[in-house]
Amino acid sequence: MYRPTDTPSDIYIWDWIVRVCHWGLVATFVTNYFIVEPGRLYHEIAGYMAVALISIRIGWGILSTKFDGSKRVATEYASFSKVSLRQQAFAEHIQHVKQKKIPTHHGHNPFGWLMIMAVITLLLGLGITGFMMEEIDAMFGNSTLEWIHSIMADVLYGCVLVHVAAVFAVQYIGNIQLVRPMLTGWRKR
Ligand code: HEM
Ligand code: HEM
Repeated sequence: MYRPTDTPSDIYIWDWIVRVCHWGLVATFVTNYFIVEPGRLYHEIAGYMAVALISIRIGWGILSTKFDGSKRVATEYASFSKVSLRQQAFAEHIQHVKQKKIPTHHGHNPFGWLMIMAVITLLLGLGITGFMMEEIDAMFGNSTLEWIHSIMADVLYGCVLVHVAAVFAVQYIGNIQLVRPMLTGWRKR
């Protein structure tokens, strides 16, 4: 969708599905980790919403290339076909940071893709252990499950802290807009 504020020098990076899933995940994580009482109804609702959002994002990572095109429904950047975890990809990214210039047409760097895989694994793990504690009578109040669930929540929190610090550091050192595209979709060329 073209808006009058978009200039031809901007590149569309993150489509609305990626952005809605991202900020929805932020909201549900903050809700469950900091705000509501663990294990109660609102915790359950926010937890299942987080699982739904990450599932949509997984589906989108697989399907988005099919919708990629001129209508800006999707961008190639969201697709899992863009994942590259070769050693060369890491070396190239580090080189770009050292040169203080990350190309503006780049999507996630390989460290970013690793973070996404960690978030996917941890959220699905939280959903499964949470479901087992709530819905399977024999598991109700199971202390091992509770322990695994709380460790996964803490590890996810650790990932989030590293993620947010990395976003701001890479944005500053690599001289590239990262937060704006996750908010508006657009990055200055
Ligand atoms: C609970 C907190 C958070 C979680 C679970 C989280 C998770 C994620 C995930 C899964 C992605 C990949 C997006 C995708 O391809 O679908 C991502 C990307 C991103 N996140 Fe977050 N995030 C969190 C908080 C934040 C905050 C607070 C900010 C900004 C201040 C932020 C900024 C970004 C940016 C800029 C990207 C894109 C990075 C790039 O260009 O490669 N995130 N985040
Ligand atoms: C974003 C996803 C989630 C996060 C970040 C999260 C986080 C947490 C945290 C921090 C605790 C406290 C652990 C402790 O006592 O040290 C907890 C407990 C719990 N969570 Fe989750 N959770 C998530 C999803 C879910 C889901 C989907 C369910 C189930 C439907 C669930 C059910 C529970 C239950 C039953 C407890 C134990 C409550 C108690 O101590 O009595 N959680 N969770």
